[in-house]
Amino acid sequence: MSLSSISIKSVRNLHDLSVSFSKSLNFIWGENASGKTSLLESIYLLSTGRSFRTRHIDNIINSDAKSRELIVFGKVNTSKQNEEATPIGVRKSTLQGSEIKISGQSIKSAAILAKLTPVLMVEPQSFDLLTGPPKVRRQFIDWGVFHVEHEFSFLWNDYINCLKQRNSLLRTAKIDLLQLKVWDKRISLLGEQITQHRIEFMDRFRVTFETVLAGLGLNEQSEIGLKYFQGWDKSKSLAEMLDQNRSKDIEKKYTQYGPHRADLKLRISGKNVSEFLSRGQQKLLIIALYIAHVKCLKELNDSQTLVLIDDIAAELDSKNIDIILSNLLELDAQVMCTVLDREIPRDYLDKHRSDCKMFHVEHGRIHEYDYQEKQI
Ligand SMILES: Nc1ncnc2c1ncn2[C@@H]1O[C@H](COP(=O)(O)OP(=O)(O)OP(=O)(O)O)[C@@H](O)[C@H]1O
Ligand SMILES: [Mg+2]
Repeated sequence: MSLSSISIKSVRNLHDLSVSFSKSLNFIWGENASGKTSLLESIYLLSTGRSFRTRHIDNIINSDAKSRELIVFGKVNTSKQNEEATPIGVRKSTLQGSEIKISGQSIKSAAILAKLTPVLMVEPQSFDLLTGPPKVRRQFIDWGVFHVEHEFSFLWNDYINCLKQRNSLLRTAKIDLLQLKVWDKRISLLGEQITQHRIEFMDRFRVTFETVLAGLGLNEQSEIGLKYFQGWDKSKSLAEMLDQNRSKDIEKKYTQYGPHRADLKLRISGKNVSEFLSRGQQKLLIIALYIAHVKCLKELNDSQTLVLIDDIAAELDSKNIDIILSNLLELDAQVMCTVLDREIPRDYLDKHRSDCKMFHVEHGRIHEYDYQEKQI
């Protein structure tokens, strides 16, 4: 899908604005605190129903907005054949909660919206993919599994609910062992299914990732390996693991093994990537992981991904920015990236004028920008 336009009301310093995007490359240029990340946040809100910056809706709603609600509305082209754009909208209010609409119909689950509009956000915190907690990497894998495997989000939600029940039982003073075994049975069934989906996806992802690395010239001198840990000893079933570790779980008061402990390890010639690679190389590697998602989704579902990159130029030189953007555009992604330096987009606008747009954000207002004519 591609987002053809967006209208935003009361998101951070963006009071009331509308923008029409290019279906391939969009640059968003502006000074610090002008509203660039808030624009990406609005796009992400519209595509997923949530912010990537906070879970507290009151922080996102413009502080001057008396109604204490924000509205983001847009039009998406879901397929190349179907020229009719689909209207989507998200309204979030402090008092009334969230409302999501697709083609005028209210929908209950944000997963339906997320499925329709695959979006990836690359932000400065994306370094967490290399150095942060395993949860960040599990969420990264699950983004791909979710878009390929329809039942995945139901399985995962079900699993997490059962896990919470089991863990709360483990915390009780007098544990009902029969009840615990009931949860073990359900958890092992769901956990194996989740893991099967993840393994199938990772087999595909690993191959794609290698071709992306080669395209970015990243594995020329050293070998970069991607290893998936399923969350328990893979020579055993989850049922066996839960059974054998029941007393330890009771002692520790939580479930030690299962897909909620899965992780993804990146190694370069056997070494930790964050210690071996330069910051620029690390950022390139992180973006390579995202590009591999875009490529997998294109190959498996023929879907177009919307990629948001905040402050693309941070840590990267112009050659690498060029490589990243060319790779993404070749995969038919729609890209929106923010820049502090007005000169970065100049070459692209000169070369690909028809496919590329640039916007200037200033004090929460946005205008299309042309180097010759300045603001259009
Ligand atoms: N709820 C809110 N209401 C009004 N303004 C807000 C709200 N939340 C944040 N802001 C302000 O919105 C402005 C724009 O923030 P944003 O993060 O979008 O800037 P930016 O252009 O990405 O800046 P930078 O280049 O420094 O990353 C900031 O001045 C910020 O303090
Ligand atoms: Mg910003």
